[in-house]
Amino acid sequence: MKFSEAFYTLNDGSKLPMIGFGTYHEEFGNNLEPIREAIDAGYRFFDTASLYETEKYLGTAIRESGIPREEFIVETKLWIDEMGREGVKKALERSLKRLQTDYVDIYMIHWPRETGEPEEAWKEKDLETYAAMEEAVEAGQVRRLGLSNFLPHHLDNILKNCRIKPVVDQLELHPGCSQEAAVAFCQANEVLPMAWSPLGRGRENAIIGNAILPQLAKKYGKSIQQINLRFLLQKGILPIPKASSKEHIKANLDVFDFELTQDEIWMLSAMPQNTWLGEHPDFFIPTKRSNPGNL
Ligand SMILES: NC(=O)c1ccc[n+]([C@@H]2O[C@H](COP(=O)([O-])OP(=O)(O)OC[C@H]3O[C@@H](n4cnc5c(N)ncnc54)[C@H](OP(=O)(O)O)[C@@H]3O)[C@@H](O)[C@H]2O)c1
Repeated sequence: MKFSEAFYTLNDGSKLPMIGFGTYHEEFGNNLEPIREAIDAGYRFFDTASLYETEKYLGTAIRESGIPREEFIVETKLWIDEMGREGVKKALERSLKRLQTDYVDIYMIHWPRETGEPEEAWKEKDLETYAAMEEAVEAGQVRRLGLSNFLPHHLDNILKNCRIKPVVDQLELHPGCSQEAAVAFCQANEVLPMAWSPLGRGRENAIIGNAILPQLAKKYGKSIQQINLRFLLQKGILPIPKASSKEHIKANLDVFDFELTQDEIWMLSAMPQNTWLGEHPDFFIPTKRSNPGNL
């Protein structure tokens, strides 16, 4: 199979390329080049967020590519200071403007639990936000809905109350951060798990320091990062690596000409779970921005 033929089928029957391109954050600055390079390399599925401040670069790169908008999958997220019924409407308008488009392919809640405690309050806020996003689907501004950083107890609240099922849940996933419970819950409910920081953000103490990965890289004639992406794909997970170098951008799609054995998948799955890079959704109250309307 080639990358251009590799798709996941979502629970609404639509298809998503098996690898997306992440756009968080600093390297992009006011630099369109990595996104342009990614489009040239063949990526058509792009992840951004209102928080990242890269929506405008993605919008410009897509518009200037000359490739029809409908050939791209554009995924963005609303931040916690944009939750709630009115918040969603305004956030979506701002994102559409920055993305220079009249629809978003996948719209996500970036983090659950905007209010922290008590349980009833965050559950209600998540549902109010999600219901407003469902209305945006019905209004034609959004094609599909997704979630990000939703663990089983957050996702279950949505699944039990939604009218339009989320198609994906974006979680921190890489060797050393397997989140088996969340992945199993997603897969049992036909919600595709998507891996953020699938390369462990290139940190020495994350995937790079693991002894198994260099051995597998040598065996298959691939880089550690390619082994890592292959591992996620064979677990039924969609990775969205970010890269700013042209070489990395291309290499991250070159993972369809080899297959890890089941033993190797188990070895990588069983790596010590000590490398959570992001924040835990139950213990982290993300910072609200002073004026999201200005972004
Ligand atoms: N939902 C959430 O809360 C959340 C949180 C974090 C991230 N995300 C999304 O997930 C995306 C990916 O995560 P991330 O950006 O944190 O980190 P990542 O994709 O795990 O790692 C990016 C780092 O890996 C390097 N790299 C990329 N390909 C490589 C290769 N083939 N060989 C060697 N090094 C390579 C990059 O270097 P160069 O740049 O030098 O190429 C960069 O330093 C983000 O961009 C964002 O879209 C979502």
